[in-house]
Amino acid sequence: MSDGSRLILALDLVDVGRALRMAQDISPHCFAIKVNWPIILHAGPQIIREISRFSRVICDLKLADIPNTNRLIVERVRELGAWGVIAHSFVGQDSLRAVVEAAGDMKVFSVVAMSHPGASDLLNRFHDMLIDISMKAGVYGFVAPGNNEAVLRQIRARAGGMKIISPGIGAQGGDEVSAVAAGADYVIVGRKIYQASDPVKVAMEIDQRLSMML
Ligand code: C5P
Repeated sequence: MSDGSRLILALDLVDVGRALRMAQDISPHCFAIKVNWPIILHAGPQIIREISRFSRVICDLKLADIPNTNRLIVERVRELGAWGVIAHSFVGQDSLRAVVEAAGDMKVFSVVAMSHPGASDLLNRFHDMLIDISMKAGVYGFVAPGNNEAVLRQIRARAGGMKIISPGIGAQGGDEVSAVAAGADYVIVGRKIYQASDPVKVAMEIDQRLSMML
């Protein structure tokens, strides 16, 4: 893993062998590797431990349950060695606080807006309230859309110096440099990298483009 990188690889591959090889090859060029339900359901939760041996791992479980259930899940994610976990904020302060308390040293990122078109139906109209709920719950940072500069800028303005990680780059239309310019600290990139004919090269290019902004 690269401490100075602003790239987070979204490892949404369901071929576990390929996913592990790609994680190893790309980890020197990214800050962290994000695992979501597809790879966890195919490989089993131990994939979190395995990748944590050589990279920071962010578990994108988008937790959205009552406090007790959130706590039970986060305790297990922590045992598996993850660096961070992603939870929803719309479920309310108590549920999110349960995540923060169970997380210990793990970083908690809360979703305050999303990157898909349907996010404008409901969720993205409430990002200010979701940021406030998240701050009161004590999260480390936010997930905000890297393909919606207007929303991202508003979230950055309200988030102050808190960390923002942004998906929506490449396959969902966003650009990594524009997302960082609009306020993202890190960009989350999946298909643009893992569907490329040379994923390592694409990851290195993104990493280099972003490092030139520093
Ligand atoms: O392939 P792509 O780069 O679009 O992958 C984006 C990753 O970020 C996926 O794992 C997706 O579930 C996640 N994500 C997102 N938008 C959000 C939150 C998470 O695309 N608002």
